[in-house]
Amino acid sequence: MSLNETDRNNWSETLMLEWSATYRYIMQTKIFNNPKLVGLIDGIMRNEADHIDISTDFLMNDFKTDVKGFRTTLFYLYQNLEFEKVANKTYGRFRRESEDEEVKAKFQELVKSEAGHVKIFRELIEAIEAGKFPVIVICPVCGWEINYGESPEEGTVLKCEKCKVDFELVEENGDWDVVRA
Ligand SMILES: [Fe+2]
Ligand SMILES: [Fe+2]
Repeated sequence: MSLNETDRNNWSETLMLEWSATYRYIMQTKIFNNPKLVGLIDGIMRNEADHIDISTDFLMNDFKTDVKGFRTTLFYLYQNLEFEKVANKTYGRFRRESEDEEVKAKFQELVKSEAGHVKIFRELIEAIEAGKFPVIVICPVCGWEINYGESPEEGTVLKCEKCKVDFELVEENGDWDVVRA
């Protein structure tokens, strides 16, 4: 199934809201010390998590990339890029709308910070799409890193430097993974 632009943008906005809701409620379960309130907030948080799953399913099914092995990574990085662009634009508007110099200055700091985040995600996506980002997988046996380098061939076998087990690089549903060779 593919989404039209309006639905895609709206699911993306829903995901932004529901992700922020989750953090809001995680914080509050730590701040409140009344177990009745903590339980209630926790219940709401679980429900928001369902909303995250629904939004993610729609967006993920619609997400296409030709880049081998980085499907899930790119999906989330694009979500991050979109979010940071919105944050950057929104805080710029808040800065312009304020008549208080201190508030303006704080929003200006946020604008700069979010602009930095936009740059980080944009460059990361560009590097991955250009095949210039290393494929490094956490060893499933010992937790060390197995580095297949940039743009590796599927089927490459490498030995984990620490546990000495051989692992073959495979692509599973668009994502790099390793299996014991
Ligand atoms: Fe940010
Ligand atoms: Fe290992």
